[in-house]
Amino acid sequence: MDLKGRDFLKLLDFSAEEITWLVDLAADLKDKKKKGIPMDTLRGKNVALIFEKTSTRTRCSFEVAAHDLGMGTTYLDSAGSQIGKKESIADTARVLAGMFDGIEYRGYGQDIVEELAKYSKVPVWNGLTNEFHPTQMLADLLTIREHFGYLKGIRLAYMGDARYNMGNSLMVTCAKMGMHFTACTSRNYFPSEELVNTCREIAAGTGGSITLTQDAMAGTRGADVIYTDVWVSMGEPDEVWAERIRDLTPYQVNRAIMENAGEKAIFLHCLPAFHDLKTKIGAEMGARFGITEMEVTDEVFESEQSFVFEEAENRMHTIKAVMLATLSVS
Ligand code: CP
Ligand code: NVA
Repeated sequence: MDLKGRDFLKLLDFSAEEITWLVDLAADLKDKKKKGIPMDTLRGKNVALIFEKTSTRTRCSFEVAAHDLGMGTTYLDSAGSQIGKKESIADTARVLAGMFDGIEYRGYGQDIVEELAKYSKVPVWNGLTNEFHPTQMLADLLTIREHFGYLKGIRLAYMGDARYNMGNSLMVTCAKMGMHFTACTSRNYFPSEELVNTCREIAAGTGGSITLTQDAMAGTRGADVIYTDVWVSMGEPDEVWAERIRDLTPYQVNRAIMENAGEKAIFLHCLPAFHDLKTKIGAEMGARFGITEMEVTDEVFESEQSFVFEEAENRMHTIKAVMLATLSVS
């Protein structure tokens, strides 16, 4: 498998074999890290990390993974750089590609990261856009495979806002890997018809399937993985909170949903999560709407069925795999 020089912008661009190979590489890198075996084969290289939205997991994963691989990192955000305000994406791409060996970008439209890649002669990695979150997908696949031992045939039910980066990406991922994806949410939050059709075509060739349902119980019955995400994503206006809480509360992941899925089911969430009032926004929304938790109850989040912290750790191992695969010299 040779992914050297490739961009990593969305999983639609990769075959199931390539995705599996990246997950295998991540598992190997994780094993090496646990055993203390150094993997600093990219010594002397440098990567630029652009974050136009905030991050904990993705930023730390890129930094730790780059350092483990022997590389230097430079963090750039909108406030402390010229990006967007004084310099176009096309110009930024050509400037950074002259100094760095790879560029990570987290921001708004998918078109921006695609533009960055078009003008960059070095690999560009998507650290999250409004439409897709591909590095998260590799971590989720690694976590699911570690738990169940396989991917093909896994039934994943996604609850909440299924038309944004996480819902879109999980639907594509399931289609590619021969998994069964169910978007279990209110009709207005289903992924776009265009992407659903694309994924159904892919799934037809892999043995996977795509189901859209508004019935929370039917959609989650017997699922292997129950997955959710925040109801309001980064960059969305404050005004949408009221409608999201109204529309998506019936799709909260709670004890009834997990029991309906069954005791073998696991709970995943890309994080950060609103499962209590211990965050500024959580407390604010709690006071405004009289609620104590949102997309997932604290009980499920803290339960033995929850693998969210294993999933978060896997962000680092899988991002390391992406950088190693696309930058490797041999
Ligand atoms: N899951 C995820 O992307 O987390 P961050 O926003 O903290 O990077
Ligand atoms: N949908 C969320 C994902 C965060 C990792 C957001 O875009 O804010």
